[in-house]
Amino acid sequence: MLFKNILFGIFSLTLVGLLGFVVYTQENPGWKAYQRQYYRILAEKMNDPKLASTPVKLVQTWLPDLSRIDRCVNCHKGIANPAFADQPQPFKSHPFLDGYMKKHPFEKFGCTVCHDGDGQSTVVEKTHGIVHHLDRQLATGVMVQSACTRCHTDMHEPGVEYPEAPAIMWGKKFTTEVALIRCGTCHAIRQYGTTAVLAPELSGIGSRTELSFYLVHDFQHVESPKHLKSQWEFEHFLDPQKITPGKKQINKETGQEETVGRTIMPNFVKMHQLTEEQTWMLTAWVMSLRDPKIEKTPMAYMPPRRAPVLAQSEPVKPVPTGKVAPVPAKRKS
Ligand code: HEC
Ligand code: HEC
Ligand code: HEC
Ligand code: HEC
Repeated sequence: MLFKNILFGIFSLTLVGLLGFVVYTQENPGWKAYQRQYYRILAEKMNDPKLASTPVKLVQTWLPDLSRIDRCVNCHKGIANPAFADQPQPFKSHPFLDGYMKKHPFEKFGCTVCHDGDGQSTVVEKTHGIVHHLDRQLATGVMVQSACTRCHTDMHEPGVEYPEAPAIMWGKKFTTEVALIRCGTCHAIRQYGTTAVLAPELSGIGSRTELSFYLVHDFQHVESPKHLKSQWEFEHFLDPQKITPGKKQINKETGQEETVGRTIMPNFVKMHQLTEEQTWMLTAWVMSLRDPKIEKTPMAYMPPRRAPVLAQSEPVKPVPTGKVAPVPAKRKS
């Protein structure tokens, strides 16, 4: 009987504790505290103390065409306000507000179409922390540029320049002009017209979900605890043989131990002495290789294509008049 009472006591206490926790997290989710702080800063900036007591409100951007609901602005309240350029995160205004961000108004584009991440969450850990297998992990820094090709599908085309996406342009130049061994020797990359079959196809690698990536990639040799596709690719560029070392096994015919499955991918980082920053740019470039059939970007979000810039050194030759070569006559057999 006593045992039963104790058990009941423990049960009740746990229940009360759980309830309290639920009430607490409902009442104090991260976003409310950030909004209050935002209004305090705003009041100071506008010299209007009344603004400090603006009631907090949960807002969201519903983007039916993109099947997204983004709530990032509940914390990033100063994102569209140039006056917040001097503030710390999450209040700081967005970079390039005066530049190409004007062409991607937040009301129409939201945030996750470029940044991925959990758009619906309103707690920092979930939007920013590593959520293993979350389909689309939050992209920061140069990795954000790998999202541009969801819509700007012409970025990989020869001669097409996007100075606004410097990492993608750098990766394009590196893989087509600088790298001593061409990626296309081994990989099929549709965007670059290569069809080799010595290595996995890269054409749609950026459109893979974290989970589908995780299922076919071995993270055993990845140093960082961040088991994300971008981290795997970054470390694989740093040292392909470390990430894909192959397995030792006994050759049945010779009885000798041998390594099978060790990658033949060259170490471009070492060969070209790439910095960490450049290695991340190469990673962003790889992740910008997307499959339009998976992305399914709606027409309303497809931008106009950019005209390729013709190389200055190759002026267009005028067609010589008079001496036009005759069309070769069909040979009779
Ligand atoms: C609950 C509040 C909250 C929400 C919701 C939130 N953020 Fe943040 N964000 C922060 C805070 C706090 C920081 C600064 C600290 C940090 O980097 O974790 C930040 C920083 C960032 C940074 C800069 C990170 C870096 O490493 O430079 C980016 C980019 C960002 N947020 C994007 C987003 C996007 C996109 C969403 C929606 C999917 C989002 N945030 C939702 C609070 C939030
Ligand atoms: C058109 C694509 C695009 C959209 C839409 C977009 N961003 Fe960004 N964002 C970028 C790029 C590009 C960067 C720069 C990353 C870098 O190079 O550091 C960036 C940077 C940031 C940063 C870091 C700023 C800094 O100074 O370090 C934050 C925070 C951020 N974005 C939040 C958001 C939020 C919140 C939204 C939605 C309201 C949003 N972004 C929508 C492309 C976008
Ligand atoms: C969801 C689709 C989408 C994404 C993702 C996107 N854009 Fe755009 N972008 C557009 C559309 C649509 C326009 C045309 C808007 C207009 O003309 O009103 C545009 C216009 C532009 C322009 C101006 C037009 C031009 O060609 O000069 C630039 C520059 C640009 N985007 C750069 C970027 C960069 C850099 C990124 C990645 C950080 C990016 N965009 C991500 C859809 C997108
Ligand atoms: C000599 C052949 C060869 C060349 C050249 C080569 N690779 Fe690879 N690459 C491979 C092989 C084989 C694999 C698969 C085994 C592994 O390394 O994990 C691979 C894997 C990769 C992966 C991981 C694919 C995945 O499914 O996650 C990426 C990304 C990659 N290579 C990018 C590149 C780039 C970019 C270049 C050019 C700068 C390049 N490779 C040049 C042979 C090559």
